[in-house]
Order: sequence, then C-alpha cells, then structure tokens
Amino acid sequence: MATPHALRDNAPPAMPKQSAIHPLWVRVTHWLNALAAIVMMLSGWRIYDASPIFPAFSFPTAITLGGWLGGALQWHFAAMWLLVFNGLVYLALNLASGRLVRKFLPLTPRAVLRDFVAALRGQLSHADLRSYNAVQKLAYLFVIGDLIVLVLSGLAIWKSVQFPLLRELMGGYDNARVVHFTAMSLLAAFLAVHLAMVALVPRSLLAMLRGR
Ligand code: HEM
Repeated sequence: MATPHALRDNAPPAMPKQSAIHPLWVRVTHWLNALAAIVMMLSGWRIYDASPIFPAFSFPTAITLGGWLGGALQWHFAAMWLLVFNGLVYLALNLASGRLVRKFLPLTPRAVLRDFVAALRGQLSHADLRSYNAVQKLAYLFVIGDLIVLVLSGLAIWKSVQFPLLRELMGGYDNARVVHFTAMSLLAAFLAVHLAMVALVPRSLLAMLRGR
C-alpha cells in the first residue's frame, strides 16, 4: 500500500522557483520615480512659462500642471521630496546589493555601437529580460546622471544664496536655469524613446509591473 511518503517520491520534481526579473524594490522605486519625474516636468513647464528663459518659446498651458505659478510651484516642491528620497533609496540599494555593477557594467563604446546597429536592423533579442543590452545600459545610466544634474541645478536655483559653490559650478544663477532646462529636455527625450521601446516590447512592461 502506498504511504504518503512513497506518493511524494513518485511526484514529478518541483520546478526551481525563479526569482523576479526585477526585484520588488526596483519596481516600486521605478514607478515612484516615474510619477515624481513626470509631475516635476509638467509643473516645471508652468513655472517656466511665468518667466521664460527663451522669450520666443513657451509651453502650451493645456499640457502643464498647476494652473498658475503658485499652484505649479506647490506641485514642483511636493514631487521634489519624492524624487530625491526615492532616488536615494534606489541608488543606495543598487550600490549596496552590487546590482548597479552587475546590471549596468561593463559598458564599452564598441558594445553600444554593436547593439545600436543590431537594434536598427531589428536583430536584438528580447528573449532574456533579465539582462540589458548595451544601448539600454547607456540609456539608463544616462538618465540616472541626468536626474542628478536636474536635482543639483534645481537646488542651485531654489537655494542659490545658501549654495554659492553649487551656483558657481553651474555658471551662476542664470546659467543654472539653462542647465536645468537642458537636463529637463534630455529627460523628455529619454522618456519619448523609453516609451517607444516599451511599446515595442510590451512583455517588459509586465515584468516591470508584476516582476515576471
Ligand atoms: C521620467 C520617467 C521615467 C524614468 C526616469 C525611467 C527610468 C527607467 C530606468 C532607469 C529603468 C531601468 C531600471 C533598473 O533596472 O534599475 C527603467 C526601466 C523600465 N521602465 Fe522606466 N522610466 C520612466 C518612466 C517609465 C514609464 C512611464 C514607463 C511605462 C509606461 C516605463 C517603463 C519601464 C519598463 C517596462 C522598464 C524595464 C524595461 C526593460 O526591460 O528594459 N518607464 N526605467
């Protein structure tokens, strides 16, 4: 007569449990970062419109957030705390776990060129969502650096008297506004390409939402 033990011995071997493609902390910090960055960008456009750096250029009010200068500043300063503290958590966990080095390095110009050409020919494989190709690595490292420049140039504009060294490193108050605007434009360009890539590989969106 079969004992419960024997029954277990005949059962097919259990599949080894696969770890998530993106750990929960990466997913949570990614979505909080996306929310904060988008709120900051849309409210920043309204703040810009109140005093344009380039007189010939302003953002259509309909695509800005905040309604008026005071409202936009409230949104901008509220999302700023989320962007900075969430970004610090993301960077600290990435560094402490060694994930930053594992996921994004090594990165060589040759590998970027090779993967860029392969992408244009439609020859890049997306079968393994766990490892990023060289173009993805470059894009993600670039946007992390860009967000750091955005925060530092924002700090130089917001507290320019308290942080004179930072202000001077940005080339003075007026130039800090140009640096902030340029970094914002690069973030917008990254986001446009990022969303197009996600639309091309929708499975990657599921992985960033569910982990699998
Ligand atoms: C300004 C806003 C955003 C920034 C700065 C940003 C930045 C990033 C970064 C740095 C990564 C790599 C994360 C890591 O592995 O550590 C990433 C991955 C990803 N992001 Fe975003 N993101 C933004 C908005 C969005 C939005 C709005 C979506 C979707 C609608 C999205 C979808 C994804 C997906 C699916 C991945 C994984 C893609 C892959 O496998 O290559 N992101 N994002």
